[in-house]
Amino acid sequence: MSARVQQVVPDLVEAIRDVMKKHDVTFQDYGAAMQFLINVQETGELPVLVDAFFNATVVDIENATRKGTKADIQGPYYLGADAYNVVTDKLPHRPEDAGAPDMIIRGRITDLDGNPIAGATLDMWHSTPDGLYSGIHDNIDPKFYRGRVITGADGSYSVSSKLPVPYQIPNSGPTGLLLEKYLERHSWRPAHIHFWARADGQRDVVNQAYFEGGDWVGDDCCDTDHLDLVVPELIENGVRVMEVNFALEPAVAMA
Ligand code: DHB
Ligand code: FE
Repeated sequence: MSARVQQVVPDLVEAIRDVMKKHDVTFQDYGAAMQFLINVQETGELPVLVDAFFNATVVDIENATRKGTKADIQGPYYLGADAYNVVTDKLPHRPEDAGAPDMIIRGRITDLDGNPIAGATLDMWHSTPDGLYSGIHDNIDPKFYRGRVITGADGSYSVSSKLPVPYQIPNSGPTGLLLEKYLERHSWRPAHIHFWARADGQRDVVNQAYFEGGDWVGDDCCDTDHLDLVVPELIENGVRVMEVNFALEPAVAMA
């Protein structure tokens, strides 16, 4: 690891120094930047800040080595594999989210040649219809809007749920101030469904699916913008169908 640090950190420091010189950074700028970082530390927003600006870049770098379905950011709300109960037809929803399911998530998990992978595991999680994550926000029971499907012999899966909505990352602290006030950007992510697909001998993929035509698609505050993961609009019997397929590639041997 120290070899890796010696490889990366001097370049990182040099890049920052170049930016400082390019913009004639003053002691006042320097002090303001220091105070910003202290505020980030004191509000516990370090993961929010770093993820908003840099997580998607690591994903892009990793995707350059992928032949199958592309990865996307995981986000902070996975909750660990134990939180995912096997479901067969439905992600459980809160009793107060009245009405029938208005979304079906379905698709197939295959290898790179399109052969079905039976017994693959797909963990899914998404926000409530009011943009909250169970197990994280408002004491919502973590069993809601989360679940695991195991693919059948034809590699397929299908579950119903209720539509998520766009999600606003925490914006009351320094990250929101930077994005919204100083950079004049916004703190919204398009509505999305998170996935983690796994199968024996195959490389895992963590990604997200987005809704064609949805607000903030292509203008994500987290800079994901994987338009290949935007699912075309399909409505069957008034229900939005999200067709999400996964082509898994063989696992890479760990060095
Ligand atoms: C954040 C939240 C998410 O649900 C997500 O998918 C990505 C990022 C966040 O709060 O930073
Ligand atoms: Fe999310």
